[in-house]
Amino acid sequence: MHPPTLPLLLLTALTTTTTTVTAQSQSPSPKTLEIVTDPSSGYTYHGCYNETTGLPDTAGARALGGGTNLVRAGDMTVEMCWEFCRSGAGDASGGEGARFLFAGVEYARECWCAQSISSLSEKLPDSACNLPCEGNTTQACGGNLKLTVYIAAAATARVTWAASLVAAGAVSLLLI
Ligand SMILES: *[C@@H]1O[C@H](CO)[C@@H](O)[C@H](O)[C@H]1NC(C)=O
Ligand SMILES: *[C@@H]1O[C@H](CO)[C@@H](O)[C@H](O)[C@H]1NC(C)=O
Repeated sequence: MHPPTLPLLLLTALTTTTTTVTAQSQSPSPKTLEIVTDPSSGYTYHGCYNETTGLPDTAGARALGGGTNLVRAGDMTVEMCWEFCRSGAGDASGGEGARFLFAGVEYARECWCAQSISSLSEKLPDSACNLPCEGNTTQACGGNLKLTVYIAAAATARVTWAASLVAAGAVSLLLI
């Protein structure tokens, strides 16, 4: 008989978890921006992407173009952008309960909402989105011509929007 086996396993698991957390909190980086995630937001993190306005022959097209945007100097947070894009941001074509499939924060203060992301936009390392949100400086808010991009989460969206037939249509779109 080896009664300590299960407790030892549990202890090992706890120790492993603790070690991981400790390693993160001892990161040498003086200020690591948080990539904010919240399952209840309806959005999941997609990555750090390039803005595309500088590319030749694209007429300044945005990485998250064709939608709408909000600029809030001094106030922008990731949550503010989620809320703005999730609401459909007053998009007349979206109808009641519509929301944009993509939400991206850029340049510390901008929020961009779109139904697609440009194929010309390149995914960069997370660390390239290195500007703090002006409304909460612990949060990553893209960078100079870089976007911290979020995409609507199908699973979360089902729960959040199940009551709305309009939203059910939007979920189907996402799954196509
Ligand atoms: C995006 O970033 C990559 C890597 O830094 C670079 O090679 C590319 O030119 C950038 N594209 C745009 C559209 O800025
Ligand atoms: C700022 O953002 C962090 C990370 O999301 C969060 O934990 C914190 O509560 C926020 N602060 C305020 C004042 O909302």
